[in-house]
Amino acid sequence: MIKLIIINGPNLNLLGKREPNIYGSNTFTEFLDKVKEKYSNIVLEYYQSNIEGELITKLHEVGYSYDGIILNAAAYTHTSIGIGDAVKAINTPVVEVHISNTMSRETFRHQSYISTNAKGVILGFGLQSYELAIQSFIKE
Ligand code: DQA
Repeated sequence: MIKLIIINGPNLNLLGKREPNIYGSNTFTEFLDKVKEKYSNIVLEYYQSNIEGELITKLHEVGYSYDGIILNAAAYTHTSIGIGDAVKAINTPVVEVHISNTMSRETFRHQSYISTNAKGVILGFGLQSYELAIQSFIKE
C-alpha cells in the first residue's frame, strides 16, 4: 500500500474560517475525510503545524520511508530556507501545493523556497490541489 502524508503549515488549521473568499469555506478535516474514503487503497496521513521547526522535524521523520509528501508550507513557502533545505535533504518526493494561485497574488507570494527541490507544484485549484497531488503519486 502506498503511504502518503499531507503536511500543512501555518494558519491552515483555520481553513473554513480564514478568508473564505480565497481559501473556501470547508474545513480541512471535512475535506480529508472525503478524500480518505475515496482513496481507501492508500495510507494517507495528515500533519499540521504553525511552527517552522516542527514542520522540518516532520519532514525528517517521514522523508526516508514514505512514498510521497504533499506539502503546503503556507507562508513559510516564501520565507523558509530551512524548510527548503529539508525538502532537499530527504529522499521522499515532495509535491508542493497551494490552495490559491500564488502567482496571481502579491509578488512576495511568487517566491518559493520549496519549488526548486519539489517533484512538482500544484496551485490554484482550491482544496482540489491536494487531490491532484495524491493522484500524481498514484498514477506514477
Ligand atoms: C497558501 C498561499 C500562501 O501564500 C499563504 O501564505 C497561505 C496559503 C495557499 O495554500 O494558497 O497561507 O499556501
